[in-house]
Amino acid sequence: MRLRINYQDYPYPTPTKQAKHRYRTYPLMCAFTVLLSTMNPIEKFEEWYQAELEVSSVRIPSACCLSSIGQDGYPNARFVSLKEVVDGEFVITGPLNSRKGVELLANPKASLVFWWPETGRQIRIQGTALPLDTKRADQYFKGRNRDSQIVSLISQQGHEISDPAVLTEELQKRKSEEQSTPVRRPTEWSGFSIKPLRIEFMEFNENRLHGRELFSREGDHWNRVFLQP
Ligand SMILES: Cc1cc2nc3c(=O)[nH]c(=O)nc-3n(C[C@H](O)[C@H](O)[C@H](O)COP(=O)(O)O)c2cc1C
Repeated sequence: MRLRINYQDYPYPTPTKQAKHRYRTYPLMCAFTVLLSTMNPIEKFEEWYQAELEVSSVRIPSACCLSSIGQDGYPNARFVSLKEVVDGEFVITGPLNSRKGVELLANPKASLVFWWPETGRQIRIQGTALPLDTKRADQYFKGRNRDSQIVSLISQQGHEISDPAVLTEELQKRKSEEQSTPVRRPTEWSGFSIKPLRIEFMEFNENRLHGRELFSREGDHWNRVFLQP
């Protein structure tokens, strides 16, 4: 059996209106990128996110791939949804006793990768993940919808279960029981704030000379270099 992927013919970069405009203005942009583009990668992240949001129809545009380092040394990647960028740090949430939680508590080196197809852009972040304090965990938990809160309460994310139907029944039971009282945050449900060390921006260009810009933190200052595609 073989799954053939027609990788030669991918219609990339994605020909959205916005991207097309970028390709037409590419030579001009190259000349001005060095001079005019922001030296603040957090601002640039926000600009790119907004640009994608304006044209994107995906259900979770904040989805990103979070990698942690497994206790066996293998990298371990999964999608999460970015909750916020606060004071230049990237916030994700989930239980601390899940695999990602245990791995990040043991080794806080983390990476996040975003791929935004409409604007043809990728952002890679490497940084240090520190757990949220109780107050912030409470705030993010309150912001979740009730079903998600109940699932967080009854499910031990990533732990084995002999019969998944047990959880479906439990969910139904809790939903009918707890309609007026707020769902309490399980103590292990929290999240991490990732302080970036490096942020790399890549955008597709029609001539395949994709633009790459790497920011590296040095204390409170960001250094920037351009990378070959
Ligand atoms: C688009 C998308 C967004 C997700 N967002 C989250 C999230 O914000 N938090 C979370 O714990 N899991 C989220 N998940 C589920 C995770 O991918 C993963 O299954 C879960 O966190 C368990 O991972 P772990 O066993 O490595 O801890 C998301 C999955 C997808 C596909």
